[in-house]
Amino acid sequence: MEPKFLIILFLATIVLAQASSSSQNTYSTFIKTSCNAATYPTVCRKTLLPYAAAVKTSPLRLVNVALSTTLKSANATLATVSQFAKTKRITKWESAVLKDCIENLKDSMAEIKSSLKAISGLPKSTDKSFVISNAQTWTSAAITDENTCLDGFSDRKVSPAIKKKLRNSIVSLARVSSNALYLINHLAV
Ligand SMILES: *[C@@H]1O[C@H](CO)[C@@H](O)[C@H](O)[C@H]1NC(C)=O
Repeated sequence: MEPKFLIILFLATIVLAQASSSSQNTYSTFIKTSCNAATYPTVCRKTLLPYAAAVKTSPLRLVNVALSTTLKSANATLATVSQFAKTKRITKWESAVLKDCIENLKDSMAEIKSSLKAISGLPKSTDKSFVISNAQTWTSAAITDENTCLDGFSDRKVSPAIKKKLRNSIVSLARVSSNALYLINHLAV
């Protein structure tokens, strides 16, 4: 046989082998591997594994899903904090802390949206490192805002009941955000 033909046959075999092994299992493994060195690997696996079939083995789609789930988490946290801010039993001081936190969370959501928008433009961009750097900046800003909200809750004048109810939700949000940032940083290499 012609050597050229053999090479084509060889490559075709590789392509077919890859296609058949691209099962759900491969997709789950991709997410687990991508999450391995994330800041919060367990949270990363738990939040992103449900999207394995949609992500397949695309680092870019993984970042998209990580940011979208972060946005959903921020929205849910915002709803919880807003609900709490409406209750009558809180002090004026607590009300002010919650109000600030609501602003931080709204800013954080806007920043995550900007990051998502940047990332969605990545495939067509001619300056990919610039786009990635923008997404990093937006996501870092979102994390800063979440931490600012969290700092407000460490105030001694905020009741333990509020801390207990709201802190966990914000800590979880900050964790999924950090993981999203890790995955964006990973795109850069
Ligand atoms: C945020 O949550 C509200 C319901 O509380 C929903 O109507 C809205 O679509 C959500 N927005 C995002 C960006 O998830």
